[in-house]
Amino acid sequence: MKTYRIALLGGDGIGPEVIRAARRVLEVLPIGWEWLEGEIGWQAYQQWGDPLPAETLNTIRRADAALFGAVTTPPDVPNYRSPVLRLRQELDLFANLRPCRSIPHPISRPDVDLLVVRENTEDLYVGRERVEEDGEMAVAEMVITRRASARIMRIACEQARQRNLRRVTVVHKANVLRQTSGLFRRVALEVGRAYPDLQVDEMLVDTCAMELIRAPQSFGVIVTTNLFGDILSDEASMLVGGLGVACSANMGEQTAVFEPVHGSAPALAGKDQANPLAAIGSAAMMLEYLGEGMLARRLEKAINRVIAVRQVTPDLGGTLGTQAVAEAVIQQLLLEEEVRE
Ligand code: IPM
Ligand code: MG
Repeated sequence: MKTYRIALLGGDGIGPEVIRAARRVLEVLPIGWEWLEGEIGWQAYQQWGDPLPAETLNTIRRADAALFGAVTTPPDVPNYRSPVLRLRQELDLFANLRPCRSIPHPISRPDVDLLVVRENTEDLYVGRERVEEDGEMAVAEMVITRRASARIMRIACEQARQRNLRRVTVVHKANVLRQTSGLFRRVALEVGRAYPDLQVDEMLVDTCAMELIRAPQSFGVIVTTNLFGDILSDEASMLVGGLGVACSANMGEQTAVFEPVHGSAPALAGKDQANPLAAIGSAAMMLEYLGEGMLARRLEKAINRVIAVRQVTPDLGGTLGTQAVAEAVIQQLLLEEEVRE
């Protein structure tokens, strides 16, 4: 039996419990797992003085992939920076993939199947911010490079092929940010010419925000810079069930970290109330990355099935707790196996 070594980073708040749920689901699949636990977040900071200890980074580097829950970032601790951003930078996880697909539930718009591909390492996220004029002015630098723009566009086009999404829309604001967004636009469209089988087009970010609401079915892949991708991916997730089910992958050359898009929801922590489907969906994305596409499909089907029959948490109209939802997904997986045998 094939065995994979996975770093598990629960983090803070509801992170550990949704990751536990995802792990339980993965463990019923015909795959061997070796779990390496790693510490991250506010808890790690309080214990080790660092929200992303070197040991955690090494654990991820030793693993085939990582599954990450969520972290709490206290707003009032000076010089504290979210470890999520450092994680992406230190491991060069340059591509953030956020799929938004319709779910069998009335809160979801029908027939949506789109993927937001967000550049994950530069833009206003480089952290070059400063205060000038005795606090009367603050300045942030937006950094865009040819290299990062080209590699994110290549991933976007490859993902479009893999997922059978024929359209790739380059989203920017080059009418105002002529140099930064302009460079991204130019490079992305140039790289896109190497994919004649895809329909590559472009859209201004404000138009894209509008079109996502008006006609979400018309999109395939949306490829964009870091901050626009942050905003558009939250918007897009609300079309198909919201943050309770939104999953993501942070991909690099060496490794990948899979995480639910939602935060650590401290108010729900330890109450067995959090929706684990975003974490379980992220585990399905991890299976795909590991080359277990068949199992990824099976898990996605099981997730949709529990949503359809409302074996879900209250946010999706059910009455189950976190671990009971994991149990329901497991039952669906086993049921399907029996039917096939
Ligand atoms: C996300 C989050 C992060 C981001 C925060 C927590 C730093 O919103 O993953 O989208 O802005 O990238
Ligand atoms: Mg965000």
